[in-house]
Amino acid sequence: MSRERTMKALAKEEFEAWAGTYDRSLLNRFLFQPSYRMFLEELYAWRGGNPEPFDLLDVGCGTGTFDAMLAGSPLPARVVGLDYAEAMCRVAAEKARHAGVADRLRYVNADSQHLPFADASFDAITCSNSFHHYPDQPAVVRDMKRVLRPGGRLMIIDGFRDNIIGHVCFDMIIGRVEKQVHHATWKQMDAHFRAAGFRDIRRRKFSFWMPGLLTVGTA
Ligand SMILES: C[S@@+](CC[C@H](N)C(=O)[O-])C[C@H]1O[C@@H](n2cnc3c(N)ncnc32)[C@H](O)[C@@H]1O
Repeated sequence: MSRERTMKALAKEEFEAWAGTYDRSLLNRFLFQPSYRMFLEELYAWRGGNPEPFDLLDVGCGTGTFDAMLAGSPLPARVVGLDYAEAMCRVAAEKARHAGVADRLRYVNADSQHLPFADASFDAITCSNSFHHYPDQPAVVRDMKRVLRPGGRLMIIDGFRDNIIGHVCFDMIIGRVEKQVHHATWKQMDAHFRAAGFRDIRRRKFSFWMPGLLTVGTA
């Protein structure tokens, strides 16, 4: 099997099986929740106080916790969550129903590398803790740029592996558990954004023991 098919098959197998218990994982507290808070902080700084509705795509949305938080917030976001694992999309849709925000959210079961949307469909794209599963990371960033409207924002969060703590967490531990994954360095991430045509690229590192890297660019 090619590297691309192997990576995708492994990711699908892992997350179809993990969907039911994902929200109770220790990683939820140390990595996932801080990521959702980081996105909300960025979105408030960018769109807070602006009453115009905006369209946001969350790529690799998992169980949709961030999507439900956003849909329940005062920000006027219309949210689409996309995930390769059907079970993750099912759990996410159920969570939205329970939270009473299902009218502001919809879920699509698809591959991040082939986004099933027309050009310029969204004002913002978020992607947290999923990018390391993508076999062709530059192609995904290019497709994200395609579906963003001019001036739209791309925000990707993944493990920060440019210091010793990140190297141990993401290369040595998570890399071994998840097998075929690649956590991009900040320089690689920067290069993907630049190559796809993003401007005003900036990054933020957050959390000490399980460090995350947020990269933001404008389409
Ligand atoms: C660790 S979870 C992150 C979920 C969520 N964004 C979060 O931060 O909690 C990674 C998610 O990426 C999804 N994923 C992996 N490869 C994908 C691909 N090629 N296209 C879309 N989603 C993918 C998995 O199914 C999984 O739900």
